[in-house]
Amino acid sequence: MVKTPKESLTILTDMVLPGETNPLGNLFGGELLARMDRACSIAAQRHSRKIVVTASVNHVAFNKAVPVGSVVTLEAKVSRAFNSSMEIYVDVWIEDRESQKRTKVNEGIYTFVAVDKTGTPTKIPQIHPETKLEKERFESALRRKQLSLILSGKMNPKDATELKALFG
Ligand SMILES: CC(C)(COP(=O)(O)OP(=O)(O)OC[C@H]1O[C@@H](n2cnc3c(N)ncnc32)[C@H](O)[C@@H]1OP(=O)(O)O)[C@@H](O)C(=O)NCCC(=O)NCCS
Repeated sequence: MVKTPKESLTILTDMVLPGETNPLGNLFGGELLARMDRACSIAAQRHSRKIVVTASVNHVAFNKAVPVGSVVTLEAKVSRAFNSSMEIYVDVWIEDRESQKRTKVNEGIYTFVAVDKTGTPTKIPQIHPETKLEKERFESALRRKQLSLILSGKMNPKDATELKALFG
């Protein structure tokens, strides 16, 4: 079976409350990570229709501070499916109260693995990207998977074909 990224789209909208902020009154990084993990987990589950676990957080960019009171929207979508693992991209936006203009503040890239009831990795559907952005994220996902496996000591850099092609 082949699915599309939009079938996994997960949108979480919530406010930033005072108890979720750092001493500057901006959203605490760990709180944002928890929200990202939750959104990605749901997207991974929607794609695979299996139990999913976080395998790695490959990248998080805290580009802009998110002030208390902000309305924060997270949009998570599976960007690529491998055998049992999936890469999920989560984009984080805030919106202006009056103009409703949206500003992208952060993004994260997570890897989830689908498992059976014993926790053993299990096969998932493949994915077919449709939009330009989905295609770009799909194409570059294998590099990120190889980098993540190298950093976690699960892959010998010599076997990282995609990274070799990139760095020579
Ligand atoms: C994630 C987990 C299921 C992987 O199990 P494993 O025994 O390493 O299984 P495998 O080596 O067969 O890897 C399974 C898949 O995960 C991928 N994977 C494992 N670690 C990875 C990492 N650090 N980065 C990217 N992909 C990873 C493998 O490449 C493989 O992908 P594929 O099947 O799509 O080719 C296992 O490590 C686990 O249960 N970890 C705990 C998860 C958890 O509790 N998360 C919440 C943290 S609080």
